[in-house]
Amino acid sequence: MKYIQSFIVVLILMSCHINKKESENKSLIEDNFQLAQVQYTNMLKEATDPTRVPRTTAEDGKLLTTDIKSWTSGFFAGSLWYLYEYTKDEKWRDAAEKWTAALEPVKFVTNNHDVGFMMYCSYGNGLRLVENEAYEPILIQTAESLMTRFNPTIGCTKSWDYRKAWDGKTEWFFPVIVDNMMNLELLFYASKATGDPKYKEVAVRHAETTMKNHYRKDFSSYHVVDYDSISGHVLDKATCQGYTDESAWARGQAWGLYGFTMMYRETKNPKFLSFASNIADYIIEHPSMPVDRIPLWDFNALDPDFQPEWTVDKSKYTLKERDASAASIIAAALYELSTFKGEDGKKYRTFADQIVESLSSPAYRAKAGENNNFILTRSVGSIPHGGEISVPLNYADYYFLEALLRKKELEK
Ligand code: GLY
Repeated sequence: MKYIQSFIVVLILMSCHINKKESENKSLIEDNFQLAQVQYTNMLKEATDPTRVPRTTAEDGKLLTTDIKSWTSGFFAGSLWYLYEYTKDEKWRDAAEKWTAALEPVKFVTNNHDVGFMMYCSYGNGLRLVENEAYEPILIQTAESLMTRFNPTIGCTKSWDYRKAWDGKTEWFFPVIVDNMMNLELLFYASKATGDPKYKEVAVRHAETTMKNHYRKDFSSYHVVDYDSISGHVLDKATCQGYTDESAWARGQAWGLYGFTMMYRETKNPKFLSFASNIADYIIEHPSMPVDRIPLWDFNALDPDFQPEWTVDKSKYTLKERDASAASIIAAALYELSTFKGEDGKKYRTFADQIVESLSSPAYRAKAGENNNFILTRSVGSIPHGGEISVPLNYADYYFLEALLRKKELEK
């Protein structure tokens, strides 16, 4: 009898612990969305022209906005859609619609690969949440624009047009950056919407070529791979925003993880799942990963074996900078990956929870009314370019909100 009583007490205590944990988690998500609403309500008072998109804090401390043709133009509308998704408050839908509509001219942009980011985070989320039929042809036209950059001999869409590497001598003719994995989701959508497989075939070719040429044996990724557009051969493997050509730039690792997880979702081909898991393991087991799980801006930035070709301006920053944007993208990706991995998925979900907890702390999250009304502080745009160092970035907020929504879904 005594044993039965003790057993019941243990069961009650366990259940209280689980309930307490659930309510703590709920309040973490709720708390973040409350702050996000305060920040973005204030942001919308300051930013009223939807063709000038809030991006970051300028060097003078003021809000910096960008043109709709900048690669970051879709994230602000995307965050407004996430606020609508969480709150179901029509005021966020109205704002999201206004900031999405302003991006329509981007559907004809063919001079870079970023149209997937710009249009799928804005129009794509809008279509998912409100089924506005007018959004469909806009997204399909955007996919057509992206397709113009595909080279079948290489098997990739070109990221940037001609430019030079950091050494000032090496020329890049057909540079493809790992970030481009993020533009492929739009192509899967276009195949579903039109019934034409050509878009998803390009997405699969691009991902397969990226697996072959961008990744090292340890599943870290180069940032840039340049190709010969006639022969399809690789000409150069290098970095643009990372520490050195051979290092692991944190956001590049994040884009790859997110991109290959999405590839598995869209194709159900197990080769993409095992590739995404290998990238995830590289990230979460990396010896430079700090205990709070917010990565250094480049995993090798403090490793004396790595020496950059660009000049390190120590008056502006230290190499120890963390990147909250990479952390947000990794968290969003790991939550999704965890759903495909059964028991193994637990370690990915736990790691994502740790990131979200850290980002929700005062070390990375703004106080209400501060930080030019962005949610997160301490992201890094590009240290080699000497810009956007330890500042808010609209894409850090976007993927943070996405991670929170994915966390909420997993806790249902
Ligand atoms: N796609 C550019 C970046 O991640 O900074």
